[in-house]
Amino acid sequence: MLGVFLVVADAQLAEQLRALVAAEAECYLAGEEADAAAAAVQIRQARPDAVVLDLALPDWGRLAEDIRRHGGDTPVFVTGRASTGQLREAMRLGIKGFVPPGADAALFRALVRELPEHRESEERVPGRVVCTFSSKGGVGKTTLAVNLAVAMGDLSSQWVALADLDLEHGNAATLLGRGRPPVSVVELCRTGAITETALGAALGRMSGCRVDFLAAPPSPELAAQVEGEGRSEPRNYVAEILEALQRRYAWVVVDTGCHWRESNLTVLERADIVLLVTTPDILALRNTAASLEKLLEGFGYSQEKVRLVLNRHAASLAVSIDNISRGLGYPVSFVLPSDAVTAVSAANQHSPFMGHRGRTPLSAGVQTMAESLLGTRVSRPGTESATRRRWALPFR
Ligand SMILES: Nc1ncnc2c1ncn2[C@@H]1O[C@H](COP(=O)(O)OP(=O)(O)O)[C@@H](O)[C@H]1O
Ligand SMILES: [Mg+2]
Repeated sequence: MLGVFLVVADAQLAEQLRALVAAEAECYLAGEEADAAAAAVQIRQARPDAVVLDLALPDWGRLAEDIRRHGGDTPVFVTGRASTGQLREAMRLGIKGFVPPGADAALFRALVRELPEHRESEERVPGRVVCTFSSKGGVGKTTLAVNLAVAMGDLSSQWVALADLDLEHGNAATLLGRGRPPVSVVELCRTGAITETALGAALGRMSGCRVDFLAAPPSPELAAQVEGEGRSEPRNYVAEILEALQRRYAWVVVDTGCHWRESNLTVLERADIVLLVTTPDILALRNTAASLEKLLEGFGYSQEKVRLVLNRHAASLAVSIDNISRGLGYPVSFVLPSDAVTAVSAANQHSPFMGHRGRTPLSAGVQTMAESLLGTRVSRPGTESATRRRWALPFR
């Protein structure tokens, strides 16, 4: 899906272009402005996949320069009544193409389908799913999912999907500063088939990072409309949503709640990487030991798939990483330090700590994780299941 931003002065032309965007199944309207200066600010925040710029705007050239400077390779098309001089100037500025007023759907489609991002999506293999999981709350699943998605988007320069599938108590929106999002996974399930268009309408594009966000239901009782009795049809919506997200994004990060019901089993099964999050306290570690047993021995997942994340680690605690690894009989893949100044203050400011602030111990840890995951070649299910060293289970 391509987000198209319109910067058009003429109301009639704007209406015509809006209709073209709506008619093209591969596109959605990422924003609209009639003023070049206001558009420059919005485009920097919304980071659309393409901009259509009206040559009737006095500042169109300056805006095109601004997009080139700040938007990297964002393709810009021009529209409106064009003089030869303007078209020459547009070519000099690296304009991608011309959408003539009165262009029909076929011409618009042809222009859009030339865009590299679109060509990629046609050839793309299903995206990889990374989920955060724990059978205990408060270990940092949501904090990690949100910040990992931001870091992966920044590092890969690709839009990353973040799906909050903690259906009863999802709170990723709060960490992203989204308050109460107008649409969530509930509306997506109500639309019938999970089409690209329905997905596009349910996702919110975050500003300041490359994350498209699918919010959890706004209240716990609505979870039943996605999983359980309240469903309008007996479908596995979570599976359908993940499949749709994987068609569109190279990476899909999923936050989950603490349970073993159908929605989580679906996420776990579909995930290429399960980040099993734990903390260095006996309550969390006991839950983690039980979870490892279920994931590895019960479901037969591989060591490549299940990665143990030790969050809130501190050298001052009476347990070392080595002890934890031995106690669980499983290697710790990632260690994130206890860093409340970063985690809690970012949460209280409704803003992910990745990307915005300077480097902190916690952001450095998440950065390392993102680098490692992006560099990972994950084999698809069917890989050998992991074996644990059975002698070491003091956390049971
Ligand atoms: N590495 C960390 N250091 C300090 N506090 C953390 C860290 N990770 C998470 N937290 C804090 O722990 C609390 C629980 O985190 P949260 O992500 O909501 O956990 P979960 O999703 O597993 O319930 C939050 O207050 C969060 O800010
Ligand atoms: Mg959570």
